[in-house]
Amino acid sequence: HIHPVLLCGGSGTRLWPLSRQSYPKQFSRLIGDESLFQQAARRLCGPGYAAPVVVTGNDFRFIVTEQLAAVEIAPQAILIEPDGRNTAPAVLAAALVLAQSNADALMLVAPSDHVVPDAQAFRAAVAAAVPRARAGDLVTFGIVPTRPETGYGYLELAADGRIDADDPQRLARFVEKPDAERAAAMVAAGNFLWNAGIFLFTARTLIDAFRAHAPDILAPVETSVAEATTDLGFTRFAPEPWARVPSNSIDYAIMEKASNLAVMPYRAGWSDLGGWEAVWQETGPDGAGNVCSEHATAIDCEGSLLRSESERIELVGIGLKDIVAIATADAVLVAPKSESQRVKEAVTALQLAD
Ligand code: GDD
Ligand code: MG
Repeated sequence: HIHPVLLCGGSGTRLWPLSRQSYPKQFSRLIGDESLFQQAARRLCGPGYAAPVVVTGNDFRFIVTEQLAAVEIAPQAILIEPDGRNTAPAVLAAALVLAQSNADALMLVAPSDHVVPDAQAFRAAVAAAVPRARAGDLVTFGIVPTRPETGYGYLELAADGRIDADDPQRLARFVEKPDAERAAAMVAAGNFLWNAGIFLFTARTLIDAFRAHAPDILAPVETSVAEATTDLGFTRFAPEPWARVPSNSIDYAIMEKASNLAVMPYRAGWSDLGGWEAVWQETGPDGAGNVCSEHATAIDCEGSLLRSESERIELVGIGLKDIVAIATADAVLVAPKSESQRVKEAVTALQLAD
């Protein structure tokens, strides 16, 4: 069986005012009738999959249980971090928990805030990657890059690697979040893929990688997991050792350093919804290029995203071009679509995220 490990501890600010520290985007119905988290959980169900392991923070535990119950998925475990230490400790802790019953357990680590429209194609890609993971590789999933994005990891294929392959390829190296110049060079080079942020490996392979590359994270996480307590179905890692865990992402702590790397190229559609422009794109603009939610109306508009999150707010745009307008019960964002990324400046400056 493959054990889905769903990460949902992050709090994105690029989709403010919809994504909040207290209610991050993965739990919102950004696209479709279910939250991104519910869609992620459902994507990894069915033959060959064990029940999901969810790794999250204390504040989100009841959102997680309610949203899973609503789609009739019973989790294998809900693991609670005393506080967020980024993805390296979260993934490692899940591996240590799974290894308690089977060190060779296969883990499919997935963010809960992405859009992967073709669940069947995705499961087929995972299935194709299984032999490499069983053989001891850290398997990533790679997306053909379309722009010099600096917010992603880049995967350089080994000399014998093929970007258009349908099976896992060897990697020469992993480069996390390059600056704009290096990103442009890598896109131009043609032998790099974007890291989708989805990983497949056995618990043993991952724990060994921490032993080799990040022993400073391994030691306190091991203690914290060993001393974990369980209540109401939640597994809580012990806070005292957890307080000593360095904060780092799996990309920097492990992937940039490891050499047993492989990539499964994935071409069936993926977006990490990194901003309102991506939401506009993924929700399928109409003939005039507009996307309107319920309680939002566009008159003579073009290329615009109009969203009202409240049935008490009717949002009307007239004569707009390439504008994003988002109204929630307590905040309104209006910006040119091309500048909507800058919402994070407002969130930092005004500490609006709560
Ligand atoms: N449980 C838990 N605890 N989850 C976390 C934590 C944490 O402390 N921090 C982040 N997460 C979750 C987020 O909610 C998200 O689902 C996932 O882990 C990835 O974290 P992000 O913070 O969104 O990472 P990123 O987008 O900057 O970069 C990663 O994803 C890119 C693709 O979207 C990297 O893997 C990049 O290499 C990759 O290209
Ligand atoms: Mg992300």
